[in-house]
Formats: sequence, structure tokens, C-alpha cells
Amino acid sequence: MQVFHHIQSLRNALSEARASGKRIGFVPTMGNLHQAHLELVKLAQSRCDLVVASIFVNRLQFGLNEDWDKYPRTLAADTKKLSAVGCSMLFCPGEQEIYPNGMDQQTRVIVPSMANVLCGASRPGHFEGVTTVVSKLFNIVQPQVAVFGLKDYQQLAIIRRMVEDLCVPIELLEGPIIREADGLAMSSRNSFIFAEERPLANILQGSLAGIATQLQAGNREFAQLEQTAKAQILAAGFRPDYVSICESKSLNPAASDDQYVSILGAMYTRSARLIDNIAVVLDKPNH
Ligand code: PAF
Repeated sequence: MQVFHHIQSLRNALSEARASGKRIGFVPTMGNLHQAHLELVKLAQSRCDLVVASIFVNRLQFGLNEDWDKYPRTLAADTKKLSAVGCSMLFCPGEQEIYPNGMDQQTRVIVPSMANVLCGASRPGHFEGVTTVVSKLFNIVQPQVAVFGLKDYQQLAIIRRMVEDLCVPIELLEGPIIREADGLAMSSRNSFIFAEERPLANILQGSLAGIATQLQAGNREFAQLEQTAKAQILAAGFRPDYVSICESKSLNPAASDDQYVSILGAMYTRSARLIDNIAVVLDKPNH
């Protein structure tokens, strides 16, 4: 695997690949890679001739009180994992390379209708940081295909909307949520969960799955279902941030006749903020 720290050297290598007709896939990450990331690389490989992964812990998407400093940097281990699955290129730039004019002066990309709800309500500026860096990375790599994990559902929906609104000529693919044996969605932040909290941390997934079952059974009392799930999270000893039943594309609160619905939730353990989601396709109501 070729490793690049600078935009120009990556671009030189990519233009050679492009000239020889290679189809380029891209998997952006912040490192601390686990199985779910490697599945994204494999998905990109199944559709492309060459896959570029990036590792950049993007300070612009972390709030002032968030965990940018303690976010695990595991570049040596990540490089080995990517090489082992046959990733072709790794781009791991420094902050100066991505934000040469400083972050305050950086031109921003904002998806206004979706950036300040759900996770965006408790993480102001987070999605603006994501869409800004993803736009830059898209312009640097210029892939035909980019892969994002469904675990970060709101991020994926926002990037989809950005790609649509800005006519970005990139096909987006969704990597499935990969779960631990007890249902907890794999995440780089799971390593922050205290050992004594870990056995109950799958309550987030369990409470969202409970809503999915109710929806499939025809229950449309959305507010009550959300309240019940939050009460289950509290009873397990965690602090719910939100549980929300949304229309899958717009992320607006779901209407009772919506067919494509996503149940999104976030909760705080003592040392981590966890997110999860489940998509359900509901029967069309008979009018
Ligand atoms: O999902 C992530 O790891 C990050 O938000 C991303 C897409 C790499 C942008 O920094």
C-alpha cells in the first residue's frame, strides 16, 4: 500500500491511475480502524480497481468540549490493517495540509436543513465540520465511488444531500452496521466505555429494535414509542440524548403514512456518547 501525507503526491499517483482507466473508490475515516471500516474498504474494492482510504482526525468537526485530544491515534496499527485487506493507497495528511489558511478562515459547506437536528442539536457545528472536510477530501481524491458506514446515519443522509445539492459526480455506497455479538454497533468510541458499563451498553440498540417491532406491528404512536425507549435507556443506567423516528431521506419527524422510516438514537455512558439506528420499511396505509 502506498502512503501519502501530501495532496500533491497523492494527486500525481491518482492521475496516473486515472489515465490508465482505473476506477477509484474512496473510504474517508478518522482512523482507530476496526472491522466495520475494513468492510467499507472491501465494499469499495468490490466496485473499483483501486481504493484510497484516508485517516484524518478532523478538528473542525469536534466541539470545544469534545474528545478531539483523546481521540485514539493508531496510525501504525491502522496502516497494517489496511494493507492486510489490500487497500491500494492511504492518505494521512497533517492539519496544515488540509487547513493551510487556518480553520477559522476555512470556507465552509453547510447542509442547513439537517445539520442542527438530532446529533447536530447536541453537537453544534459538528456536521458543518464533516461536510467541509468531506468536500475537501472529495476534491482531493476525485473518486468515482465513496463509501460511508450506515452507523453514522445522519452523517450519511447529510452527505447524500450535499452531493445532490452540489451536483458532486460521486456515487455513494452504504456499508452495513457491523455489530458486536450482543448487538452493540462497532465504533471507535466503544473503547471509551468503562468495563462495568459495557454489559448494558447494547440497550441503545435494544430499545431502537423495540420501536422497530412496534412500528412493524402497526403502532404509529411515535412520541410514546420514543419516550418508552428513552425510559429503557435511563433504567439501564445511561443518559438518553435523543430517540427519534424520522423519515429516512429528509430526517424530518416521521409522518404516520411514511414508508421509509429510520429510528435514530444517541445516549451517554459515563465516558462515551454512543449512536445507533435502525431502518424500517413500513406498509403503505390503505386509504
Ligand atoms: O465518519 C467519520 O469517520 C468522519 O466523520 C469522516 C467522514 C471521516 C469525516 O471526518
